[in-house]
Amino acid sequence: MYYHRLGNIPPKRHTQFWQPDGSLYKEELVSSEGFSGIYSNLYHIHPPTRIKSIGEPTRYGAKRIEDYALRQTHLNTSKVTVTGEDYLSARKVLMMNNDCAISICSPRQRKMDYFYKNAEGDELIFVHDGKGVLISPFGKLDVRQGDYIMIPRTVIYKFEFEEGPLRLLITESASPIETVKRYRNDLGQLLEHAPYCERDIRAPYELITDTSRGDFLVKIKKQGFLHNYVYDYSPLDLVGWDGFLWPYAFSIHDFEPITGRIHQPPPVHQTFQARNFVVCSFVPRLFDYHPQAIPAPYNHSNIDSDEVLYYAEGNFMSRRGIDRGSFTLHPGGLPHGPHPGTVEKSIGAKETHELAVMIDTFHPLHLTDQSLEFIDKNYPMSWTDNTEGGFHEVNTP
Ligand SMILES: [Fe+2]
Repeated sequence: MYYHRLGNIPPKRHTQFWQPDGSLYKEELVSSEGFSGIYSNLYHIHPPTRIKSIGEPTRYGAKRIEDYALRQTHLNTSKVTVTGEDYLSARKVLMMNNDCAISICSPRQRKMDYFYKNAEGDELIFVHDGKGVLISPFGKLDVRQGDYIMIPRTVIYKFEFEEGPLRLLITESASPIETVKRYRNDLGQLLEHAPYCERDIRAPYELITDTSRGDFLVKIKKQGFLHNYVYDYSPLDLVGWDGFLWPYAFSIHDFEPITGRIHQPPPVHQTFQARNFVVCSFVPRLFDYHPQAIPAPYNHSNIDSDEVLYYAEGNFMSRRGIDRGSFTLHPGGLPHGPHPGTVEKSIGAKETHELAVMIDTFHPLHLTDQSLEFIDKNYPMSWTDNTEGGFHEVNTP
């Protein structure tokens, strides 16, 4: 990330910064990975430590399925339009391990009457359908279809979505979610060969300095519970901030694909990195242009990874079983590949209009109790029966 500032801050950090009423603004350093990672300095009207009351914690989250047999898995989540009442009750965790949790979220309510803070994970929210605004102490950030919204852990926030379809893919990460290291130079700037650059990353643009008093509920997620904290002032009480740690938006439509004469491997699609998993974006692009090229991927045995694909848009919609909003999980230990007929069919194809998000984890994922209703039992045999047609868009791995 790059340095950004909004609002008023003192010329030098950790120095006197006076409010009009003669009291000091309250400085808060938000630092990641101890003091070794990125950080920001925030200037509050009220001490961020001051709380009015703490309610009873409520249990929150999904249970891992430990005895799920090794198999290729299709989760048919395409038909779901509402997964719960509000933003938190609607978040359904489908797959998880110690590094990440992958959820869908389609809340009925478009606005939140509370704030939320994930105290243990960064959140990467892919907006498959939806339009609205992210509101946090860092300011307002517009949210559009196709955006990845990256919210660092401990950022207090709420969404206000407009009416209309709303479908979110949420990846929580136990480690910081970052831009890809090999795309950056020694000083952190995104390089010329990177598929995106700083101009594509949208920062909060308008600070909300809310001085109002009252009861403000913040639901804090940590260790399997929501902890209900009540503040007697608005959490949006910042007059300014600066640093590298802030929520941002990056649109998948701004990812510039890297193509080649022959089939390019998934790392060219990498968009984010975290410890023990990566996030890749498959976007509309020209196919391979070697005269003998095969645009469809080869069979692949990724001996170290579980590969999750979320199908956003593309030709897979005409195929039986998979529709927009479905997931596949191709676990390490089994080869996966194109469906019967798709390799031959891909020869001569010039371009693809697919849009997909891939999450590859370097440790096995577990399905959860919230995923069971979506399992397509026919999928493991779908490479065997020619009459079924393929479930894959030709160029997703
Ligand atoms: Fe693969």
